[in-house]
Amino acid sequence: MTSTAADISSTLIDWYDTHARDLPWRNPPGMPVPDDPAWPYRVWLSEVMLQQTTVAAVKPYFEKFTSIWPNVEALAQASEDEVMAAWAGLGYYSRARNLLKCSREVSDLGGFPESEDALRKLPGLGAYTAAAIAAIAFGQRAVVVDANVERVVARLFDIEEPLPGARKTIRERAEAITPEHRAGDFAQAMMDLGSSICTSKSPRCLLCPLADACEGRKAGEPERLPVKPPKKAKPERRGTAYWIERKGHVWLVTREGNGMLGGMRALPDDGWSAREDGSGPAPVDANWEELGAVRHTFTHAHLTLGVVRAEASDEPTGSGEWWPIERIDEAGLPTLFAKAARLALARD
Ligand code: ADE
Repeated sequence: MTSTAADISSTLIDWYDTHARDLPWRNPPGMPVPDDPAWPYRVWLSEVMLQQTTVAAVKPYFEKFTSIWPNVEALAQASEDEVMAAWAGLGYYSRARNLLKCSREVSDLGGFPESEDALRKLPGLGAYTAAAIAAIAFGQRAVVVDANVERVVARLFDIEEPLPGARKTIRERAEAITPEHRAGDFAQAMMDLGSSICTSKSPRCLLCPLADACEGRKAGEPERLPVKPPKKAKPERRGTAYWIERKGHVWLVTREGNGMLGGMRALPDDGWSAREDGSGPAPVDANWEELGAVRHTFTHAHLTLGVVRAEASDEPTGSGEWWPIERIDEAGLPTLFAKAARLALARD
């Protein structure tokens, strides 16, 4: 017997009613949208944090942000330094810059707009996030498609066309099964199914509430779907970071503008992110001691960052600050530079 769109959505919602993950930004299944002015703020914050980041990694950051800034007006008053430092370690730092911009816009507007179109115009909100907020925070019917939903839908309807071309069909199919009511619960049910059962490598079809409806399972190899385009090899980059010490302090800079790790505190480096390979001058003349190298993978490249150390007698060139080494954990260094700092600290 073939399943209708209504069968699929009601089966999934029933499953969610008993299997929903209990997450700090979530409303229990089936409950009306809370009458709390901070509710859309919490949904928005969680959705921005969850872009390209796992639930486990996001949880402590979500708790930290909501305890420091319990609502959008409070966040709008924060400085960029404070927000970037609180975000340190979560990655994709343009999200943090947009977060602050967006909070200021929303605070000026007197609150989050409710329509998907208006949400879409806010800084940092793409189609996915706008739809997720409209559905989860405002209870609207919106079609929410993230990577989990993409995988579930491609399998459910046995969509063989490779990504990214398949996105149009996936969206149409997702739209067809999105219910009129409880679209927010439905979206989160798809996400939970995708992360706990319809996983990318070994789907647990025996436990899946949609197994009977799943064309991909019937065709035999659901784990092949969605078909992905071949991965491009990431280029290898090299650079050097400088650990410059003076009287128990280390020289830290704030990285410029919108570039890679822009706005974050960091060790000075030789410009590896702006050039093919770091080849800029050292920030101070010194007798550099080589401490080794750290590896880090960005979305677009692998980086090997050599770390060198020196005691400085002169002030390094450019702007920066002497930061007390014993408080280095409070500097909000992004993961790459935290790794480099660990190498320098391990030397002593
Ligand atoms: N990933 C993105 N948004 C999510 C949500 N609301 N719940 C669980 N995982 C998610």
